[in-house]
Amino acid sequence: MLLENSQPEPYRIKMVEPIRLIDREQRQARLAAAGYNVFRLEADDVYIDLMTDSGTTAMSANQWAGIMTGDESYAGSRSFTKLTQAVRDMLGFEYVLPTHQGRPAEHFLFRTLVRPGQVVPFNAPFDSTEAHVSIAGGTAISCVAEIGYQPSVEHPFKGDVDVQKLRNVIEGEGRDNVPLIMVSLTNNAGGGQPVSMANLRAVKALADEFAIPVYFDAARCAENAYFIQQRESGYANRSVAEILKEQFSYAEGCTFSCKKDALVNIGGLLATRSRALYEQVVPLLVLHEGFVTYGGMAGRDLEALAIGLREMVDDRYLQHRVGQVERLGDTLLAGGVPILRPTGGHAVYVDAAAFLPHVPRSEFPAEALASELYLEGGVRAVGLGSLAFLKEEPSTGAVSAPRLELLRLAIPRRVYTDSHLAAVAVALIRVYQRRDAIRGMRIVSAPPMLKHFTAVLAPIEVRDEAVAECREVMV
Ligand code: F0G
Repeated sequence: MLLENSQPEPYRIKMVEPIRLIDREQRQARLAAAGYNVFRLEADDVYIDLMTDSGTTAMSANQWAGIMTGDESYAGSRSFTKLTQAVRDMLGFEYVLPTHQGRPAEHFLFRTLVRPGQVVPFNAPFDSTEAHVSIAGGTAISCVAEIGYQPSVEHPFKGDVDVQKLRNVIEGEGRDNVPLIMVSLTNNAGGGQPVSMANLRAVKALADEFAIPVYFDAARCAENAYFIQQRESGYANRSVAEILKEQFSYAEGCTFSCKKDALVNIGGLLATRSRALYEQVVPLLVLHEGFVTYGGMAGRDLEALAIGLREMVDDRYLQHRVGQVERLGDTLLAGGVPILRPTGGHAVYVDAAAFLPHVPRSEFPAEALASELYLEGGVRAVGLGSLAFLKEEPSTGAVSAPRLELLRLAIPRRVYTDSHLAAVAVALIRVYQRRDAIRGMRIVSAPPMLKHFTAVLAPIEVRDEAVAECREVMV
């Protein structure tokens, strides 16, 4: 199936890492021991790992060469100079603050700009990003276009900000309560969906009207630029590199988890045009990460990142990568599996609510599905639904589920071939065929925040009433 229309990788493989599928009884035992939370599994017990595209990239021969030539000087490292140059050339930002991954960059940005009681509008924030806004005393507000909440409707730019919603937030809260606007490229919380250039321009125009700075969450900015090239009129003949640069022209700066599009296993950035912000963050960087010319990274990591930032815009690589995600999505659709349409840049998102309509949101359909996929094929994917994004109103204790209940199959960059993904599709289609027998989950124990990473879950046993009913029938 996948193989029929597969596309050869635009690279050849120089190094291999064995993987193995343990047998079904072992998978059952490991899953139970992991508290039915795939985050708690040993990676060696996973056959094909689609938990995340973050930090799981296969680096290029060039990047590995850079690892050997990286400069480990404490201050003024040559590798930092290369990184700064790459950021200026590719993204267009003058000031570069290196961090060990995306979240310290978020910490520094929100801690510096956000005061308690303020709000930060987004298209949609990712979980760690939202948590950083909260820790700074603020509230993240999603303003993603309504179409972003309709999983089965095709639309080229479901990550777009609803500009009217954004205006309402700014006018409702008052300009002084909105210290920045943030746009995630692509929208990971809503299916890896891209944001159009027209929308970025409109957000910037509105932000200028109120003199509010715009920052991007740039984790998947190259995939976003590729979608613009493919889908937005006027961009078909422009290179991804040019489109990327135009995207960033509408932002004052960005936080960047470089473990995604920038093709490294570790690394992050806070980059900005604002000298004032840079000067405020420098002492925080020195306190929490390290000296300004290495932040939280080794010199060799700075070097690999400087190369990755240039490699990430290779049009042929992006065509293969985004095509691979799309082929997996098409195969699943052909097998009847409900997925969020169209497929995202880095992942296929299964609509877990539609897959398991008999499992209520309070019983975590996405996690139930993640467990079943692991049992079926040794495949690990992550639930992004009510367990990850359940909101509790602190004053009343009222809880509300997020609008989407998704299981994300994230594809690491340059790691798996189409035949690996065919095995994933076969396993998930088998789970789909026996979906009616799948039960929901309950929480055995969980921390108050970011529950999904460490919660211990258990499958919900056949309910007492159902058992009683069953006994009655048998008598
Ligand atoms: N922003 C987005 C959109 C992300 O997807 C992530 C991480 C971060 C920020 C934080 O970056 O992990 O380098 O600190 N997402 C990972 C994922 C964990 O699996 O999607 P980080």
